[in-house]
Amino acid sequence: MNLNVLVLPGDGIGTEVTREAVRVLRHVAAKWNHTLNITEGLLGGIAIHKTGTPFPEETARLAAAADATLMGAVGLPEFDDAPPEKRPEKGLLGIRQALGVYANLRPVRAYASQLDSSPLKNHLVEGTDMIIVRELTGGIYYGTPRGITGDGAEMRAVNTMTYSRFEIERVSRMAFHLARARRKKVTSVDKSNVLENSQLWRRVVTEMGRSYPDVELDHMLVDNCAMQLILNPKRFDIVLTENMFGDILSDEGAVLAGSIGMLPSASIGDQRPSGAWVGLYEPVHGSAPDIAGQNKANPLGAIGSVAAMMSYSFGLKEEAAAVETAIEAVLASRHVTADLRPSGAPATTEQVGLAVCAAIG
Ligand code: IPM
Ligand code: MG
Repeated sequence: MNLNVLVLPGDGIGTEVTREAVRVLRHVAAKWNHTLNITEGLLGGIAIHKTGTPFPEETARLAAAADATLMGAVGLPEFDDAPPEKRPEKGLLGIRQALGVYANLRPVRAYASQLDSSPLKNHLVEGTDMIIVRELTGGIYYGTPRGITGDGAEMRAVNTMTYSRFEIERVSRMAFHLARARRKKVTSVDKSNVLENSQLWRRVVTEMGRSYPDVELDHMLVDNCAMQLILNPKRFDIVLTENMFGDILSDEGAVLAGSIGMLPSASIGDQRPSGAWVGLYEPVHGSAPDIAGQNKANPLGAIGSVAAMMSYSFGLKEEAAAVETAIEAVLASRHVTADLRPSGAPATTEQVGLAVCAAIG
């Protein structure tokens, strides 16, 4: 198979974890005789430095031409005081929107060998296995009007949370489909006791659920969900929610997986005429400037994103499973990065990448 992949390492630890993810990608391509064609592009703070904008047109062009895009992380502290339009994060929001990847799949698993990495009691996290399906191209992240106006005491900031029926329907469909291949349970999360937006969300998800009578659907308010994720994470199979709630809940999910460095994600859009799904793959973690350049970031979220790419964009289930099994083997060896509290000296980012390749064989 021809695999045309755009790689956007981005900022901070993005470059280090992406290097290891690409190492694994090359390894898989060589082992299974796929022709891998990698192009590299700019996104985020590095793109601002080199081109003046966080999402250069060239990157948009490369992403549209690629079969799949692998992203590292964006964000640099020097832009902390910049307005949203001029921040590295704007690049990420831009590419998500340009590719139309409306469904962000964030699997959260507690690996048996990793239970001690979570600060929560083992019996609580053990067996956790869910996918957070986060709507990714709508809601308050993109709604208009937005902005800061006025002066002094009259200064005012506005953001708009908006969803159309169409936007809720398509991401719901994705959630119900995923549930069918799993434990057949969708928990839709909203704030319908306060927000009209959530009332529409709940109404549309309920309607969609009627087409999937084999899937159990329940609804949960987001504040309660934040608590249940910690109290009883095993109760969740698919968590379906809007953009900002999904952003927040997925970081909470990281605590169940032992470290935010563990979490991969797949952002999926429409099917192309070829039948392939448009996909953007990125670890859930950020650019972690405090540990950047030190070869100690956990690359497993980025490497897991490669497995997701194999599976969703290329339909290469055997390759995806091999990467996932290799990740489990490396975790079981306990020679892991510092965030996972290894028994001995922590492994470097590079050592973990090499170990995953060795485990794939
Ligand atoms: C994430 C990140 C991004 C988001 C930031 C970097 C814009 O937190 O992917 O979870 O809020 O979507
Ligand atoms: Mg986030």
